[in-house]
Amino acid sequence: HEIDAAQHNADKGEFRHYMLKEIYEQPDAVARTIEMAVDSDAPSKLRDDFLQRHEALLKGIKQVQVIACGTSYHAGLVAKYWFESLTRVPCSVEVASEFRYRNPVVVDNTLVICISQSGETADTLSALRDIQKHTPAGLVSLALCNVPTSSLVRETDIFLPTLAGPEIGVASTKAFTTQLAALMLLVLKVGAVQARMTDEKLSTLLEKLQALRGQLHASLHLDAPIKVMSEHFEYKKSCLFLGRGLQFPIALEGALKLKEISYIHAEGYAAGELKHGPLALVDKDMPIVVLAPKDSMFDKLKANMQEVHARHGELFVFASEESKMVAEDRMHVVYVPEVCETLAPIVYSIPVQLLSYHVAVMRGTDVDQPRNLAKSVTVE
Ligand code: G6P
Repeated sequence: HEIDAAQHNADKGEFRHYMLKEIYEQPDAVARTIEMAVDSDAPSKLRDDFLQRHEALLKGIKQVQVIACGTSYHAGLVAKYWFESLTRVPCSVEVASEFRYRNPVVVDNTLVICISQSGETADTLSALRDIQKHTPAGLVSLALCNVPTSSLVRETDIFLPTLAGPEIGVASTKAFTTQLAALMLLVLKVGAVQARMTDEKLSTLLEKLQALRGQLHASLHLDAPIKVMSEHFEYKKSCLFLGRGLQFPIALEGALKLKEISYIHAEGYAAGELKHGPLALVDKDMPIVVLAPKDSMFDKLKANMQEVHARHGELFVFASEESKMVAEDRMHVVYVPEVCETLAPIVYSIPVQLLSYHVAVMRGTDVDQPRNLAKSVTVE
């Protein structure tokens, strides 16, 4: 009935499912989110009014703790790579259901970022409230949220919105990519107010953010080849998603999408961990999806792919053309539009969403309302 209520506000239009519509809304949703912080006529600097009221708070923070669940947690994992590599601000990320029960240490001057599409997830809210009860000195709380009227937004110092618009499909898509975009903006803001990033680095990244709309748009053209690819998954029982570096969280997210809506067991793994277990699973019946942009980890990843291929695993690779990966026996390749390494996780989210979607449609599952799952988990 959640869908019934929302139906008045959000029409599926020409799309068969809300999820597909929401996948296609991503170029605009991400661009809208970026516009909060960057004017297209001055693309190389942050807007003066972006989080301006909170500059003093952000100036004082010494580390970041991200708390979230599900897909929002995966966005947090990407933010960890960004915070630490770009600003050297230490960042920890944890699922709220663990964080809240283990009596964690939150040191002084921590920025607690709660990421939540709904802003009503019980575990995330409780984890936040527990931290606030202990009031470490210099605590700053921030809600990265898609619902401005939510409990989470009311209970935090700073509200950073994702401008995704209402998300109806239970499996999160546009909320995720807008979370990533907003997190990048936050990383840049912290880098700027704490002078932890050169002006040059800042303006380069800001300019690259402007290219995202076009890159996301272009990646939607992969729909047809990915649909063809998805036919290989219809009768599979289990599937592995591999990535390294910034693509590791996208591997986790890809696996989550596939299991949520197609009910195929899927695991996301850091490709460097293959030898520590998952390699034992690999045989000719095991599809392995690999996120393989031509980035600083590509050569290592390529070696990981060879290990899997040598054990007769069937590879489904999302790569950049520049990588010169070509299809061969038991290796399927789809080229993803070129994008800089830092922002690649946003663009590589699209092919894994489309793959899961097409597999689920083929298997005849209820794509928008998968069995046993809810859009927002408001009770423990
Ligand atoms: C549920 C939804 C997921 C979502 C998670 C966290 O499991 O089905 O799509 O990622 O909750 O929700 P939140 O609203 O806190 O982002």
